[in-house]
Amino acid sequence: LQYTTTLKLLNNQFLISEIQSLDSQKIMLIMSIETSCDETAAAVIENGQIIHSNVVASQAEMHSKFGGIIPEMAAREHMINLIPVIDQALKISGATLKDIDAIGVTNGPGLAGSLLVGVNTAKGIAFPKNIPIQGINHLEGHIYASWLEENNPDTEFGFPILCLIASGGHSDLVLMNNHQEFKLIARTRDDAAGEAFDKGARILGLPYPGGPSIQKAAEDGCGENFHLPRPKINNSLDFSFSGLKTALIREVQQLKNLTTQNKNDLAYSFQEAITDTLIRNTLQAAEMHNVKGILIVGGVAANQRLREEIKNRAQLPLMIPKVKFCTDNAAMIGAAAFYRMQNNIVHEWDMDVIPNLSL
Ligand code: KG4
Ligand code: ZN
Repeated sequence: LQYTTTLKLLNNQFLISEIQSLDSQKIMLIMSIETSCDETAAAVIENGQIIHSNVVASQAEMHSKFGGIIPEMAAREHMINLIPVIDQALKISGATLKDIDAIGVTNGPGLAGSLLVGVNTAKGIAFPKNIPIQGINHLEGHIYASWLEENNPDTEFGFPILCLIASGGHSDLVLMNNHQEFKLIARTRDDAAGEAFDKGARILGLPYPGGPSIQKAAEDGCGENFHLPRPKINNSLDFSFSGLKTALIREVQQLKNLTTQNKNDLAYSFQEAITDTLIRNTLQAAEMHNVKGILIVGGVAANQRLREEIKNRAQLPLMIPKVKFCTDNAAMIGAAAFYRMQNNIVHEWDMDVIPNLSL
C-alpha cells in the first residue's frame, strides 16, 4: 500500500477537548470516503476546511502495468484497502466514530464496482451508529477542493464563479451561482483532458497515469519541432480532444524512429495544445458569464504548465487547489459534504451509486 498522509493538525487530547465543546462551538466533524476510480481514500474534516487526516492509497502502480484502469481489479483493490485506509484516517485524526457527525461518500460519477465498495462500506459503518450519510457527487468534491484549508472562494471573490473541472473522465465548464447551484455550460464532445493525457502517453510509450508522465517528459522538450492543433468547435465552448490524439498518432507514424528527444518534444507540444485549449475556453466562458472568479480543479489541474499559464493569462481572481487536492482524495468529499450539511441535505439509507451522475 502506498499511503500519502497529509496534515495532522491535532493530537488526541486537543481533539477530544474540541469535540466535548462541539455544540457550543458548532464544530462539525465529517468522515469522508472516496473510491470512484483508482484511489482508495478517507479523511476526517472539521467544518469543511480543517484537515485532521487525509489518507490516499493509490492503485496507479498496479494499473500502470496494463496501461490503464481495469475496473474489476480497481473494485477488488478498494475492497482490500478501504477499511485499513479508514482506520488510518481515524487514527491520525485522533477521532473515533462517536465523534463523527456525518459520513460523506462519493456515490457517482465513476466506476460502478468501485463506487459500490465506498457506498456500502459507508452505510455499514454509519447505520449501526445512526450517523447521517451523504452521497457526494465526485465533481462537486473536485470543486470543493477549492474550499479546503485557508481558502474560501465565496468570501474571497463571491458568486458567480466559473469552474473548470478537468479530470480523467470530465472536461466541464460549470457556472456556480451559489453553494449546490451548478449549471453546466460546456463539456467535452469526446475524450476528457485527463483521458487525452493518458492516451497521448500511451502513444508515446510513456507510463500511466499519462498526465504526470507527459509533464515530466515535456520538461526536456521544446515546441519548435512539432505543431499540434488547438481543437475548436464553432459557436460552442465545448471541448474535443480526440482529433488532437489523432494528430499525435500521425506525427509518431511519420517518424522512422521515435527517439527520446522526439518523445520529449511531442510531449511538450501535446501538453501545450491541451493546456492552451483548456485556458482559451475557460477565459472565454468567464468573460461571457461575467463571473467574479475562476476555479481550476480536477486531476489535470495538477499540471504545472496549466497552473502557470492560466495565472499569467487570467484577468480575474483565480484559485487552484494545492496539487494533492487536485487529484482524487477524500478531503474534497468532506468539504462538499460539509456544505451540503449546512443546507440540511442528507441521504436515506437506500442511497445508491449513480455511475453517470451529473452535477
Ligand atoms: O481527478 P482525477 O484524479 O481522477 C478522475 O476523477 O478522473 O484525474 C485523473 C486524471 C488522469 O487522467 C491523469 O493523467 C490526470 O488527471 N493528471 C494530470 C496530472 N496529474 C494527473 N494531467 C496532467 N498533468 C498532471 N500533472
Ligand atoms: Zn476525480
